[in-house]
Amino acid sequence: MENDPLFKPLRLGALKLKHRVVMPPLTRMRSKQPGNIPYALNAVYYGQRASDGGLLITEATDINPQAHGYNWVPGVYTPEQIEGWKAVTAAVHAKGGMIVNQIWHVGRVSHTSLQPDGILPVAPSAIPATGQIYTSEGQQVPFETPRALELAEIDAIRADFVQAALNARAAGFDAVEIHGANGYLIDQFLHDASNKRTDQYGGPIENRARFLYEVVDAVTAVIGADRVGVRLSPWSNLLGMEDSDGVALWESVIAGLGKRNLAYLHLIEPRADFTDDESPLDMDAPDVASMFKKTFGGPIISAGGFQPSTARAAIASGNSDAVAFGRPFIANPDLPERLRRHAPLNQPVRDTFYGGGAEGYTDYPTLDQVAAE
Ligand SMILES: Cc1cc2nc3c(=O)[nH]c(=O)nc-3n(C[C@H](O)[C@H](O)[C@H](O)COP(=O)(O)O)c2cc1C
Repeated sequence: MENDPLFKPLRLGALKLKHRVVMPPLTRMRSKQPGNIPYALNAVYYGQRASDGGLLITEATDINPQAHGYNWVPGVYTPEQIEGWKAVTAAVHAKGGMIVNQIWHVGRVSHTSLQPDGILPVAPSAIPATGQIYTSEGQQVPFETPRALELAEIDAIRADFVQAALNARAAGFDAVEIHGANGYLIDQFLHDASNKRTDQYGGPIENRARFLYEVVDAVTAVIGADRVGVRLSPWSNLLGMEDSDGVALWESVIAGLGKRNLAYLHLIEPRADFTDDESPLDMDAPDVASMFKKTFGGPIISAGGFQPSTARAAIASGNSDAVAFGRPFIANPDLPERLRRHAPLNQPVRDTFYGGGAEGYTDYPTLDQVAAE
């Protein structure tokens, strides 16, 4: 099937892929407690989804204790967490796959009950996210008004991104993906509705993009740009993201990233709402891969509501170099093989997306298991 666009080899910086079916970051809230430590069950899950020459990106991973916004999300800042991740990367490498660690700081998308010492979450400005959040006890409450970061704290968070990237490499990850999407800390700096700072990190676009660029430059300086990807979600309004001039913002930010020789840019198409399985695709939403492919210049991974046919078309168009399938990868451990064979797909069950154990995590059957039944 070498005519299938999904199964053409691709190079993303230092990563040599044999196919273009990527697993995007998927928060599953199943680390070992206490300590938010990846463990054997997580290694089974990622190992099941690995394929020869295929690329997996981990769930968003805390760079420090303050980065935490949801129970049971793993970190990559303690020795135990780094050890735990080694089993995950080994399971993926044993199948010839590659695995990238998505590193994040949630910023204001947290709650005092989830923060070290029970203090307020931080953000570029003291403006709350929209919607609700779960406390550490599992109660749904409105977001609190966060505390605006001091300049010295911004420096410290940047340093924690760098240390997390080094830790990820020490744990055997092939690269890191900096989470600049979906309303978390870096995205909060980018958008003018959540960033009202009057210092060098606020105001004009180049100031709001400064934190992203500084993190990217500091991380690439220590692990190499060919092992760094960035994820963005242009025109997503998740968690209160809004900007008065989206076209100018994304043109500028993506052009800036384009100068940095990154392994890839990972763009989430705004047409799909991954928080709700019932909403139809919004086909009037901007097609961000086609808008920004030239601006970026390097390889683009696209995500957001893709079907096998639309994924093939996106790659054939030349705007996307690889396609990430989120919910389909939750339900289909052997997704690349199913796509190669044009086989039917298992349907994901939303009730077991977040938290729990093996159910809805490592028990979705492969094609071979279905055939043996
Ligand atoms: C359960 C779940 C968890 C997710 N967790 C993350 C995450 O940790 N980091 C991230 O960048 N995106 C996350 N996303 C977004 C997905 O990576 C993907 O962009 C989205 O699901 C759209 O792709 P799909 O339509 O193929 O599912 C998550 C999505 C789902 C459904």
